Amino acid sequence: VIAFFRPKLLAGRKVVLTAGPTFEAIDPVRGITNTSSGKMGYALAQACVRAGAEVVLVSGPTGLPVPAGAQRVDVRSALQMRDAVTAALPGADVFIGVAAVADYRPAEAAEHKVKKSSADMTLRLTPNPDILAEVAARENAPFCVGFAAESRDLDAYAEGKRRAKRLPMLVGNLVQDGLGSDDNLVILYDDAGRHPLERAPKTEVARRIVEHLAGLLKTAAN
Ligand code: CTP
Ligand code: CA
Repeated sequence: VIAFFRPKLLAGRKVVLTAGPTFEAIDPVRGITNTSSGKMGYALAQACVRAGAEVVLVSGPTGLPVPAGAQRVDVRSALQMRDAVTAALPGADVFIGVAAVADYRPAEAAEHKVKKSSADMTLRLTPNPDILAEVAARENAPFCVGFAAESRDLDAYAEGKRRAKRLPMLVGNLVQDGLGSDDNLVILYDDAGRHPLERAPKTEVARRIVEHLAGLLKTAAN
């Protein structure tokens, strides 16, 4: 009845998130990256702070301000992101992978600027580690939440990823519905099925995601 005295949803919890794109160097002035504004991850970090959590936000390059009350660790590449996540994980109750991690990096980054020629040029790429799958596979893994932005067949791909990475919860959306925008239209996937959320500003979507995850976290603990 007296909402004022209701404990916050994530009081006493530590949440680690990844957000933004990663940038994989080709040489000192070039690289490959993914399209990601970072807005959804930052909104989620903010929502976790508001829900009373201690928040570490491991972020690729976004140009966004640090969410008030969160601790941000800035990284560039997927390998740096993995190291920063590993360092932040002790004591974490929840890990949320929102980052658009580059799936591949150049097999070797050139020390000096690559010079052009008129011939074709080939860039050899090597797979990056799957940060979320690694965290979820740990012994005593925190409660892990994944994101999947797909361009088609959302239900099949999202639920497939959730199962493949053994995640209790995944947030799926179609790239047409969210990329770069301030709004997002998402579906939550968990062991009970699919839960579509209404289209809303990313700040509001973030609040709903936190509500859902706090509910699952409570059940998981009992
Ligand atoms: N992820 C990660 N590390 C990677 C790749 C993805 O932590 N190297 C995380 C993302 O942050 C996201 C989830 O895994 O939470 C799904 O990412 P996504 O790119 O959609 O899936 P992939 O497994 O990489 O499959 P694909 O890109 O082929 O669709
Ligand atoms: Ca990927």
